[in-house]
Amino acid sequence: MALYAIGDLHLSLTADKSMEVFGPAWENYVDRIGESLSALTAADTLVLAGDTSWGIDLPEAEADFRFLEQFPCKKLLVKGNHDYWWSTVSKMSAFFGEKGFTTFDFLHNNCHVYGDWALCGTRGWFLEEEQKPHNAKVLNREVMRLETSLRAAGERPILCFLHYPPLYQGYACPEILGLLEKYRVRQCCYGHLHGPVIRRRVEGQRGETAFSLISGDYLGFVPKKICD
Ligand SMILES: [Fe+2]
Ligand SMILES: [Fe+2]
Repeated sequence: MALYAIGDLHLSLTADKSMEVFGPAWENYVDRIGESLSALTAADTLVLAGDTSWGIDLPEAEADFRFLEQFPCKKLLVKGNHDYWWSTVSKMSAFFGEKGFTTFDFLHNNCHVYGDWALCGTRGWFLEEEQKPHNAKVLNREVMRLETSLRAAGERPILCFLHYPPLYQGYACPEILGLLEKYRVRQCCYGHLHGPVIRRRVEGQRGETAFSLISGDYLGFVPKKICD
């Protein structure tokens, strides 16, 4: 039994947006994901930290979830900026139920208990969002979602999974970082960074929190083992 995490699988079995055009890091990525997920068992938990499917709605994402469903590990979904299929948790749960998919759950305004740990998470906030209107509203909503999730942990030590990096070379999101500090988050994993910008990642210990990038192309599509 172990906990694993990876982000940005960017599956596109129906949506026809294969990431293979982005060069060698993405070559044959669906087969490589399949190979690495085959090593996980039904006793394992895998956090998928956003950008899981290019599907624009649940029907278009169905083939991607069917692909993931064949691997028996429990999967916790975090929302990414490209997860256009994301709907309300009740609609998504009903869809998965209808299709007979039993391995998925959501990390969204909640926390999941794993051994002694609380697993928390949300999409988060990134610099590029500030170009868009109503950015303060979106930031506040994400901060509230993160705090709801962190508060649900109670006294348990916290592992936090965000889609957007809260820290990046030349950028920090003080609202999100403040919450990680307030709730003494032990580890914060994030995705979203691909290709050349990976070199601008910030990893390692900052205060009480260890940061790591877990985007699929960065990990070579092998999920990072977080703990037993
Ligand atoms: Fe991504
Ligand atoms: Fe992303």
